[in-house]
Amino acid sequence: MTRIVLAISGATGSIYGIKLLEEFHKADVETQLIISESAKKTIALETDYLLDDISKMASQQFPSWDIASPPASGSFLHQGMVIAPCSMKTLSAIANGYADNLINRAADVTIKERRKLILLVRETPLSPIHLENMLKLARLGVIIMPPVLSFYHHPKTIEDMMKQMVGRVFDQLGIENSLVKRWPGIMEM
Ligand SMILES: Cc1cc2nc3c(=O)[nH]c(=O)nc-3n(C[C@H](O)[C@H](O)[C@H](O)COP(=O)(O)O)c2cc1C
Repeated sequence: MTRIVLAISGATGSIYGIKLLEEFHKADVETQLIISESAKKTIALETDYLLDDISKMASQQFPSWDIASPPASGSFLHQGMVIAPCSMKTLSAIANGYADNLINRAADVTIKERRKLILLVRETPLSPIHLENMLKLARLGVIIMPPVLSFYHHPKTIEDMMKQMVGRVFDQLGIENSLVKRWPGIMEM
């Protein structure tokens, strides 16, 4: 079974993390969920989801302060970690090895164990500090995947756009999916 560590940090777009969790749940992917304290605020501000309903979709959940929980150790096996959305603060902590909470520690461990780490970094515009942190991590093999909207598949709703992005994360993790509308080539359009 595929096991993914999924963290939701406090950038706008908490819905990306929630939609990913929903699709992992549907696809029978085991999820280890961590929600930062700031993300609890953005979830309440931006969505109609209750924290309890989000928790029910996860296989297991750990408090972001609990640095003694399994994802804090390299001995805990998983096939990848996704942070969606990833705030600039969490990005900075990871880029500098500042493992002061479970999200940062689990990401630090994912890098040291040479496992897949995907960051749906979200901020605009980006400062040189943000860009340098991203470049530093990209050079280590971390996948920097800002949730940028795409239009080539002719989305009709925000839901369509979200689905495409969530599907692209599945692709990065090597999980088969029918979420992505794939580019058919100009001749097929
Ligand atoms: C409504 C709202 C939207 C925010 N959007 C962003 C954002 O897009 N990017 C970002 O880096 N921080 C954003 N922040 C600020 C982060 O929540 C803040 O830096 C926090 O310390 C991040 O902590 P965390 O990474 O531990 O979740 C936002 C905060 C609020 C309340």
